[in-house]
Amino acid sequence: MKQMNNPPDFELVDMDIDGPCVHIKINRPDKFNALNVKLISELCEAFEWTAKRSAGAIDAVHDESGEQYLRVLILSGQGKHFCAGADINMMRDAGANTPEENRKDSERLDKLFNSLWAHPCFTIGLIQGVALGGGAGLVSCLDHVIATENMRIALSEGKLGILPAVIGPYVYRKLGSAQFRRLAMLAGRINVSEAQRVGYVETIVPTLEDAIEEAQKVVSEVLTTGPSAVTLAKELTLGFDRWNGTDEELRNWTLDFTSRMRGSKEGQEGLSSFLEKRNANWKPEE
Ligand code: COA
Repeated sequence: MKQMNNPPDFELVDMDIDGPCVHIKINRPDKFNALNVKLISELCEAFEWTAKRSAGAIDAVHDESGEQYLRVLILSGQGKHFCAGADINMMRDAGANTPEENRKDSERLDKLFNSLWAHPCFTIGLIQGVALGGGAGLVSCLDHVIATENMRIALSEGKLGILPAVIGPYVYRKLGSAQFRRLAMLAGRINVSEAQRVGYVETIVPTLEDAIEEAQKVVSEVLTTGPSAVTLAKELTLGFDRWNGTDEELRNWTLDFTSRMRGSKEGQEGLSSFLEKRNANWKPEE
């Protein structure tokens, strides 16, 4: 079966596959891409569908027919703003619902952020306009963020009398404890240069077109890295994030990880290709 056939059809999400890259575009511009139940469900499905077809998760560059598995996911939002956060109508209705329904709603949001955070592909965000609340959450879950000069970002929940709890772990990991705490309390928008200073943003460009061009440079770099190395770098980082054993246990864990990578199919191919002065099988033809 050809893996890339029949991608799911969405109403509020556009998904374009171009070889090893998938571009997922949030398409609810009349509400500034606010995350309602339908949009959250569609994004979760898009992340799940693409994760299952990623080279890193499958540990192969292409299927039997030669069709490439996915290695890079680009996320962007249609219109003036990247994302105005969770849909405020949805959150108000959830608060008035039973505790079980209210929790189900938060679980849906949690799945959204976690499936982007844990996605096996290298993820790049193209961010314009505002990224508020859940929008800042999405930004924090990405591996590499390219923002336009007009970008503004906020953990704005505090202004609504709620807190950035569901997105918290990802923002905290991205910015660190002090900046997360400060920005959650201030809850106001910061501009793109401060966003870059605190660690939300890698590169600032004038327009979204420039962001797309800049993303291509990042894609070219990622495609020369082993796909499983990309995916497992996330597992390695999570191991450090969560470590609560002794330092000695940590050092042993890194030794096991290193041995596992050296002995892997991809590790053997990467090391052999270097010594044989040839391209590794995951490198695109020049
Ligand atoms: N949820 C639901 N609807 C939203 C929304 C959200 N998070 N953000 C914007 N909208 C809707 C507005 O209600 C409005 O709908 P209407 O056309 O039916 O009246 C429409 O999007 C346009 O918003 P508006 O405020 O009129 O536009 P603006 O250009 O003045 O401001 C924003 C745009 C995004 C800066 C502003 O709407 C805003 O601050 N939104 C709240 C974002 C927020 O706090 N999110 C965090 C949630 S935790």
